Amino acid sequence: MCGIVGVLGHHQAAPILVEGLKRLEYRGYDSAGIATIHDGHLDRRRALGKLVNLSDLLVHDPLAGTAGIGHTRWATHGAATTRNAHPHARGKVAVVHNGIIENYRELRAFLADKQVVPETETDTETVAMLCDWFIGQGQAPVEAALSTISRLEGAYALCFLFDGEEDLIVAARKGSPLAVGWGEGEMYVGSDALALAPMTDEITYLEEGDIAVVTRAGARFLDADQQPVERLRRRVSVDAKAADKGGYRHFMAKEIAEQSSVLADAVEYYLSSAEGRAAIETGLDFSQVDRLVMVACGTASLACHTAKYWFEQIAGIPVEVDIASEFRYREPPISDRTIALFVSQSGETADTLAALRYCVGKAGRIVSIVNVAESSIARESDVALPILAGPEIGVASTKAFTCQLVVLAALALQATRQRGARDDAALATLEGQLRQMPGYVADAMTCEDQIRDISKELAQFEDAIFLGRGAMYPLALEGALKLKEISYIHAEGCASGELKHGPIALIDSDMPVITLAPRDNRFDKIVSNMQEVMARGGKIVMISDAQGIEEAGEGTWHRVALPRVDSPFAPIAYAVPIQLLAYHTAVAKGTDVDQPRNLAKSVTVE
Ligand code: F6R
Repeated sequence: MCGIVGVLGHHQAAPILVEGLKRLEYRGYDSAGIATIHDGHLDRRRALGKLVNLSDLLVHDPLAGTAGIGHTRWATHGAATTRNAHPHARGKVAVVHNGIIENYRELRAFLADKQVVPETETDTETVAMLCDWFIGQGQAPVEAALSTISRLEGAYALCFLFDGEEDLIVAARKGSPLAVGWGEGEMYVGSDALALAPMTDEITYLEEGDIAVVTRAGARFLDADQQPVERLRRRVSVDAKAADKGGYRHFMAKEIAEQSSVLADAVEYYLSSAEGRAAIETGLDFSQVDRLVMVACGTASLACHTAKYWFEQIAGIPVEVDIASEFRYREPPISDRTIALFVSQSGETADTLAALRYCVGKAGRIVSIVNVAESSIARESDVALPILAGPEIGVASTKAFTCQLVVLAALALQATRQRGARDDAALATLEGQLRQMPGYVADAMTCEDQIRDISKELAQFEDAIFLGRGAMYPLALEGALKLKEISYIHAEGCASGELKHGPIALIDSDMPVITLAPRDNRFDKIVSNMQEVMARGGKIVMISDAQGIEEAGEGTWHRVALPRVDSPFAPIAYAVPIQLLAYHTAVAKGTDVDQPRNLAKSVTVE
C-alpha cells in the first residue's frame, strides 16, 4: 500500500525523506511527496509517478527544513494525480496517510456545514481539514490531532506535521503498520523498520490504536483510549543492503537467484535448529484436530493450495483453503477442533487479517506464516512462524512463495508425525526430500539461459495457459499469475484434467501452453493432455526432467529440462522456471518488472 516516513532531525530533511521513501516505494508508486517546515512554515513538493520524478522536482525546486514527512502512494480514493498526492495540507496541517478513512463522507458533511470544503478527491485530505478546523477552534496541535484521530473510522497509519511547529510530529496507527525510530537527538517515523534502516535500528512498533507524540527529544505514546502507555524500544536487525539490488538489474532477479540460499536457511531452521523445531512443536497439536483451514491472498493462497496436497496426502488431515476476501464474509463454521492457518508475506494484508480475526475465539489455534515478525498478522496469532526469506522488494512474490512452501512442508511433516500417519522410516525419507529442495532450486537456475530465449518468443503472444496436475496445479495458477502481473500477458492456470471441459476451446496456434510435467504418477495423463493441445495447433512449452522430455517431448514447441525431483515437494523446484519465464518475458516486453502497473506490495485495504 502506501509508504510513510517522517523525520525530526538536524540535517536537511528532504534527502532523508527521499531515501526512506526509496525503501518504501515497493508499497506504491502512483505518486510521491514530502512536506517540511522551513522558517516555521509548512511547504510541500509532490510529483506524479515514480519517486524519481519527485527527486527531479526537488533538484529544480528544493525544499529546506529539518522536520518533514513523506509519502509514496498507491491510489485508493481519487485518481493518481499530483493534486491527489500526499502530503495533504490544509491551513496549518499537513498529513500523510496509509489506509482508508471509511467515514470521510460524514466528516466532509460535518465540515461542509462549517464552510470547509475539499480541494481533492481523497479521503486523506479530510483528515487535514478536520485537524485544521480543530486548530481553528482554539485547540493546540497535539490536542487537535487527538480530536481528529478519535473521529476517524477505518484503517490508517498517519503522520501529522504542523505549521509553526519545527519539533513535532504526531503519528497514529490503526490497521496499518507504523514504527517510531530513535536516533541521537533525532527521531523518525516509518511504515517499517526497513525504511528507517539507514538512519536507526532502534525501533518502537506502534500497537493497534496507538498514537505517538514525537519530538527530537523522544516520543511519548498513547493507547487506543488516548491514555499514556509505555512501549518497548528495541534494536532490530534489518539488513540495510536488503533494499539494494546487489548488482542485479531488478530486485525480482535478485530474489529469484537468492532462493536456494534462503530456502536452505528455512529448511535448516525448521528441520534442524532447536529453535525452529520448537516453533512448530510447541503449542501446535495436529493430533487433536479434525480440520486445517488455510486462508491467504494471491500467491500466498497458492502456497496454501499446494500445501493442501501435502497435508491431505501425507498427514491425512482434511484441509480447506480459501482466499481471504471470500472467507471473511462467507461466515464459515469453525470449531475448536480446527487449526486456522494464515499465510502472508507482509503480514499486513487487510483481508487476511480480517479472516484471522474472524477465527479468533472459534478455532482451536490461530497460526500464521509470515515474513515480517512484527506484523499485525504475526502479533494476533497464537503461533507465528517466520519464513526467513529476508525483505522481498519486488512486487511479484518469488522467494517468499518458495519459503512459504518450505514452512508449510515442515508443518505438514510435523502434522504427519503427530498424527502417526507415517512410520519413522517414511518420515525420515520425506524429511530428507525436503532437505534436498534448496539444492534442486539451485540446479533449476541453470535453465535460465534457455528460459530467456523462450521468453523472447513468449513475449510476442497475447495469451498463455499454464497446465499442471496434482500439486503442480496450484503452481500452474501461480505461473499464470506471475506472468500476467509483470508482463501484462493474459494468462490462465488450468488443472490439466479440466482442459477438455472448456478451456481447450481457446487452443490454436496463437496459444502457448506451459505444461508442468514432472515424471510422477500423473505423468502419462499430462502427456495425453499435451497431445490434445498439440493436435489443435497449441504451442507446448514442456517443463519436465531430461527423461520426461525424451519420453514425451516430441512435437513440443520448447522443452525445459529440470533435475529429476522425485518427491512431493517438487513444486518448490518447479517454481523456479515459471518465475524465470515471467521475469524474462517482462524484461523482453520492457515492462516495469519490480513495480508493475496498478499493483502494490502490501495490500492494507479491502
Ligand atoms: C503476487 C503477489 C500477491 C501477494 C498477495 C498477498 O506476486 O505477491 O498476490 O501474494 O497480495 O500478499 P501477502 O503475502 O503480503 O499477504
